Amino acid sequence: MSRAPLPTTLRGHERREAGRQYVDMKGAPLPNRVTVFERSTMKRLRNALARVLVKIPDSLFDKLLVFLPSSRRNAVMHKRARARFHWYVGEKVGGFMVETDPGPVGPDEIIMKTAVLNKAEAPRQLDPDIYFEKAYRQLLDWLQLLERHSFNLRTLGSVLELGCGSARLIRHFRCLQGVRLVGTDVIPESVAWCQQNIPGVEFYVNDLTPPLKFAADSCVDLVYAASVFTHIPMETRDLWIQEMYRILRPGGFLLCDVLGRYHQQRMLGKEDREQLRKQGHFTLTAKDPKASLSTQLIGSWDVFMTRAEVLKAFGSRFQVLDYIPSTLDLLVLQKPR
Ligand SMILES: C[S@@+](CC[C@H](N)C(=O)[O-])C[C@H]1O[C@@H](n2cnc3c(N)ncnc32)[C@H](O)[C@@H]1O
Repeated sequence: MSRAPLPTTLRGHERREAGRQYVDMKGAPLPNRVTVFERSTMKRLRNALARVLVKIPDSLFDKLLVFLPSSRRNAVMHKRARARFHWYVGEKVGGFMVETDPGPVGPDEIIMKTAVLNKAEAPRQLDPDIYFEKAYRQLLDWLQLLERHSFNLRTLGSVLELGCGSARLIRHFRCLQGVRLVGTDVIPESVAWCQQNIPGVEFYVNDLTPPLKFAADSCVDLVYAASVFTHIPMETRDLWIQEMYRILRPGGFLLCDVLGRYHQQRMLGKEDREQLRKQGHFTLTAKDPKASLSTQLIGSWDVFMTRAEVLKAFGSRFQVLDYIPSTLDLLVLQKPR
């Protein structure tokens, strides 16, 4: 289709919009100036909506959600989480922030292998709005938490995600200009998909046992492992803690989570919990029907530890800055300077 000549007074983004031929509801071409006006008005309205969404307190937002049709709720929650994340990052780093396309949702097979506790929750985890909403919310929570421990987003130079799955989280760090981003996982298909679909991040396959061959000593500012130490067997747990310590620079941060009381109550029987209490740890293998669906699908492990065991294991190398009980208990760790 031939395009109408561009008016010369338009700025860059308006030219790009005007370069497309928009049509009205009957299919007749619209003049470019009208298109530009409509598009920029829509953009302003969208920005205004995002600003309102960011400002509404959680308690009020939850109440307002009830008035939306259920089919729209996840999309609005996604929009709000995205707006809040970008607003926070923008406030912190100002001109170091760059607009990025979040990219595609991970394919169903990878999400099933990396995020699903049981069949009943599969449809929820596969919903694209939930996939993105959870990621933005999780990252915002983490950044706000790290900030309380003198972490500075403006001086962040490198981030590594151990067990990156479908790059659900690491992709969003691309909104920070000039930060080296690395994702690594033991599942080659996940890594291949990420390499093909998420530009701006280096992805590697790693072995079940360290080292991370591509990472030098003391080279990373921030490492995180979201729901990964929950699947690392006891035989290699301390090796991985030591590996995280090796690659972090002194003063660098490690965020990771473990299966705490919430999952112990949900997934383990009384006798299992008794053994956990006695040993300090308890493992469900992939063959165990109580194991999570993801663990069964990839032949992994669900590893439970007591609070004392967690503090002993991670505290042997790191300064434990915080240990927050939640659906997954979150550890905020720092490599001593
Ligand atoms: C529950 S999934 C979480 C994926 C991703 N972190 C997220 O939050 O979407 C756990 C991931 O850790 C990976 N994983 C397990 N053990 C690992 C190890 N030793 N090294 C690297 N990745 C590992 C699995 O392959 C899987 O992709």
